[in-house]
Amino acid sequence: MKGIVFTKFIEMVEAQFSIDTAEDMIEACDLPNGGAYTSVGTYDHQEMVALLVQLSRMTGKPVPDLLRAYGNFLFGQFVQLYPVFFNGVTSSLAFVGLIDGVIHVEVLKLYPDAQLPRFETLSRSDDELKVVYRSDRHLGDLAEGLLEACIAHFGEQASVSLKRENLEEPGEPVCFTMTRRL
Ligand code: HEM
Repeated sequence: MKGIVFTKFIEMVEAQFSIDTAEDMIEACDLPNGGAYTSVGTYDHQEMVALLVQLSRMTGKPVPDLLRAYGNFLFGQFVQLYPVFFNGVTSSLAFVGLIDGVIHVEVLKLYPDAQLPRFETLSRSDDELKVVYRSDRHLGDLAEGLLEACIAHFGEQASVSLKRENLEEPGEPVCFTMTRRL
């Protein structure tokens, strides 16, 4: 998992909880690198799991809630760090349709060892987009938080709703349906 996922997570904990909480969380996990991440480095995904479980213990908030909150925060960071991906895109449905074929493809050029999820488009119309999230890292809650923040970001006139269904298939994929209603 790329270091940016860790550095931004620690930034979120500092901003939404406190600097002390972030320090205590890192210390309690006894990480190989002592919690010193660089955005271009690559680290074991299990370290992220350890940090999340520890933060959950410390705050009493369930891991899925923390992951969704992190997705919300991370999307805001993507908006600031990678404005180029937003150029000319005017709706959340259009943006989400670009993740698999354009955005994450560019991410792989920037970070060739990135481990990215798949967002397979199942169906698409003007007012509905159905995508299936698949990843060995099972971060459907993070994806949900990112998608919620994406909808809020575009602030469209029509309201866009997000529905999540956990699919009972190997690999535990998650189907997300985005629906636009005037
Ligand atoms: C709504 C939009 C997006 C969604 C739902 C999304 C979803 C995700 C998820 C769930 C992951 C975690 C890895 C996994 O699940 O296997 C991930 C990783 C990542 N995404 Fe996206 N993403 C979005 C947009 C973006 C954008 C705009 C960028 C910026 C260039 C980006 C860059 C990355 C990077 C760098 C990683 C880390 C890869 C690694 O750890 O090796 N994503 N994405």
